[in-house]
Amino acid sequence: KVVAVIMVGGPTKGTSFRPLSFRTPKPLIPLAGQPMVHHPIFACKRIPNLVQIFLIGFYDDREFALYVSAISSELNIPVRYLREDKPHGSAGALFNFRDVIMEECPSHIFLLNCDVCCSFPLQGMLEAHKRYGGMGTILVIKVSAESANLFGELVADPMTNELLHYTEKPETFVSDLINCGVYIFTPDILTAIHDVSTQRKDAANLRRPSGFEAFHSAAKTLPSDFVRLDQDILSPLAGKKQLYTYETLDFWEQIKTPGMSLKCCALYLAQFRFTSPHLLVNEDCTRNATTVGDVYVHPSAKVHPTAKIGPNVSISANARIGAGVRLISCIILDDVEIKENAFVMHSIVGWKSSIGKWSREAVIVEDEVMVRSCIVLPNKTLNVSVQEEIIL
Ligand code: GDD
Repeated sequence: KVVAVIMVGGPTKGTSFRPLSFRTPKPLIPLAGQPMVHHPIFACKRIPNLVQIFLIGFYDDREFALYVSAISSELNIPVRYLREDKPHGSAGALFNFRDVIMEECPSHIFLLNCDVCCSFPLQGMLEAHKRYGGMGTILVIKVSAESANLFGELVADPMTNELLHYTEKPETFVSDLINCGVYIFTPDILTAIHDVSTQRKDAANLRRPSGFEAFHSAAKTLPSDFVRLDQDILSPLAGKKQLYTYETLDFWEQIKTPGMSLKCCALYLAQFRFTSPHLLVNEDCTRNATTVGDVYVHPSAKVHPTAKIGPNVSISANARIGAGVRLISCIILDDVEIKENAFVMHSIVGWKSSIGKWSREAVIVEDEVMVRSCIVLPNKTLNVSVQEEIIL
């Protein structure tokens, strides 16, 4: 049996996604018409013998209740949201729920970051992991040397694929091979996390100085139940024949900002051509508006036949797209209205926004106003043109 765990973080983690994450937790913001977390969940569906999917986070339970019940019945696999009372770090969060995760005695645990966009080659990882015979296998990818320091950089044995060295976001260049935030482990990972937490406790007890000194040393050490997968587990276990790597040659991106979500939307729409072609608008369908490239339109959205949409556009529920509208590379969220002849490009138009006639790019814009390279917070009415501004 196999279980999958998806780390969704919490409200203090998704801050770079503001203002979109004010209203909706980052993992539920739509990408290619589906919530961000839907893409890894859907990939898990293809794992043989998968018995449960857990989402672990520190958002309020109510925020995920509707989604998990809908997706459980759609996939016919139980999907449960497990809420931490406080952040425990990416490994500590797993350990915190070890009893629930181990209920079905799984032989393997997949662990996935929610904020990565890739093809999730999970079956390939599982097969490779069984061949390697270690405790864990990490999905890795080559990136440009300039961007590698944003991620965990690692060195792997070219013959055996063993993880030889791991450094999290190093200041000086180590390697252009990086950690994709997708892992498979045997349940031994839980013992490894427990060991780190025990060592922390022991070290704190040994050090236990008195008075003023005690106060300062405690401030410097992390709590024993806060364990980071990368620094606290991967780095010390590298080179010990316990961890291995599986390199993907497919696409991979991190989704840390709304701007990145436009790029990831394009990648997922392109992937739908192979995995879910029924979700893409069929260009030959003459009843609909003209579409260019990959376009997703929710069945409840209304698009005027004279509009021209695409490439890379996703239109969510109940959106109304007027006559002569042109949309290029954008995400239109639920209940948005885009009035006649407006032009929207490289934008995310937030829930319930309305864009006036003949206007270009915005959130809530009056007729004939132009908004370019701006972040506009909800409930704003723009009656003058703005450029490169944050409208608070
Ligand atoms: N539930 C829970 N609790 N989730 C957490 C916690 C926690 O305390 N801390 C982090 N997460 C989740 C985040 O929401 C995210 O999905 C994932 O764990 C990793 O987040 P971070 O620990 O903040 O790391 P990062 O995203 O900056 O970098 C990690 O991922 C990169 C790939 O995207 C590292 O592992 C890098 O090495 C890696 O390259």
